[in-house]
Amino acid sequence: MSQKIVLLGANGQLGQTLTRHFKTLDHDLVALGRDALDISDETALRRILDDLAPDVVINAAAYTAVDQAETDDLDARLANATGPKHLARWAKERNSWLLHISTDFVFSGRSHRPYTPDDQTDPLSIYGRTKLEGELHVRYLARDNSLVLRTSWVYSQYGRNFLKTMLRLMAEKDSLNVVDDQIGTPSSTQGLARCIAAAVDKRPVGILHWTDAGVASWYDFAVAIQDEAISQGLLSRAIPINPIPTTAYPTPARRPSFSVLDKAETIAALDCHPQHWRRELVHVMKQINKKTPT
Ligand SMILES: NC(=O)c1ccc[n+]([C@@H]2O[C@H](COP(=O)([O-])OP(=O)(O)OC[C@H]3O[C@@H](n4cnc5c(N)ncnc54)[C@H](OP(=O)(O)O)[C@@H]3O)[C@@H](O)[C@H]2O)c1
Repeated sequence: MSQKIVLLGANGQLGQTLTRHFKTLDHDLVALGRDALDISDETALRRILDDLAPDVVINAAAYTAVDQAETDDLDARLANATGPKHLARWAKERNSWLLHISTDFVFSGRSHRPYTPDDQTDPLSIYGRTKLEGELHVRYLARDNSLVLRTSWVYSQYGRNFLKTMLRLMAEKDSLNVVDDQIGTPSSTQGLARCIAAAVDKRPVGILHWTDAGVASWYDFAVAIQDEAISQGLLSRAIPINPIPTTAYPTPARRPSFSVLDKAETIAALDCHPQHWRRELVHVMKQINKKTPT
């Protein structure tokens, strides 16, 4: 059934992918970047959403600079917690369904098995804490008409992400050191968009997890990126990539050492099946090779 959808954070990497993906579907999508709607501004949010009266709101807006958030917690909280609170309140009042994107960084990483949606959260960073606050607002204020969809290690042909940073560094440097003791799953925005489209059709409520299939360390991901980039002609030579421990690469924000997400409930609820992350990587690299806009 065709639905009226408002997408927020439309200029981010997920936002741009969703804008393209939904053009191929039978929905009426209004895509708003931060320039059109800052979700921390409740007055503007109410005016614009009241005017558009969507059946569905997808919130892909977020403050995602994980290290910068450690010294900029006010801005991180405005985007990641205050904005979702305003959205959830509006969605509850207007009986609209809210799909809110969240992160594996709500977990501490001390688990040794994939995290299920009900597992105990315990974020290590300001980014993770503000994202958890956003989740709690959404669940508390719009319990019966919202879905929190957690994902991890998001990348695409758009914007800034690990894949694009690696391609740049691999072209510039003679060798690279990459941490091999943080384990998770890369998630292409294209796979995520397919899952989100299935969720829009079925409108589940609660918390679900989505990533591509399989697991990797950042080191594994980097090695796969280099191999694929050489095979597709995006890089002309291989450089040594050295595995290093997190302790050798200190960052302002602490990150979970293990943040694999269990997707079983999502697959059952949405009948949507993730592809292995290496297959998604091949596809994203082909998009970069075609020089789609960044
Ligand atoms: N990137 C990852 O590795 C990752 C991992 C797990 C989960 N996630 C989650 O996935 C979702 C999408 O992330 P992404 O990678 O697409 O992030 P992104 O590329 O950084 O895009 C986020 C977008 O939100 C916008 N934004 C920030 N504050 C806003 C506000 N107050 N009002 C409206 N828009 C605002 C940003 O605009 P400006 O650029 O102008 O600030 C940007 O266009 C987020 O919920 C993120 O937490 C991401």
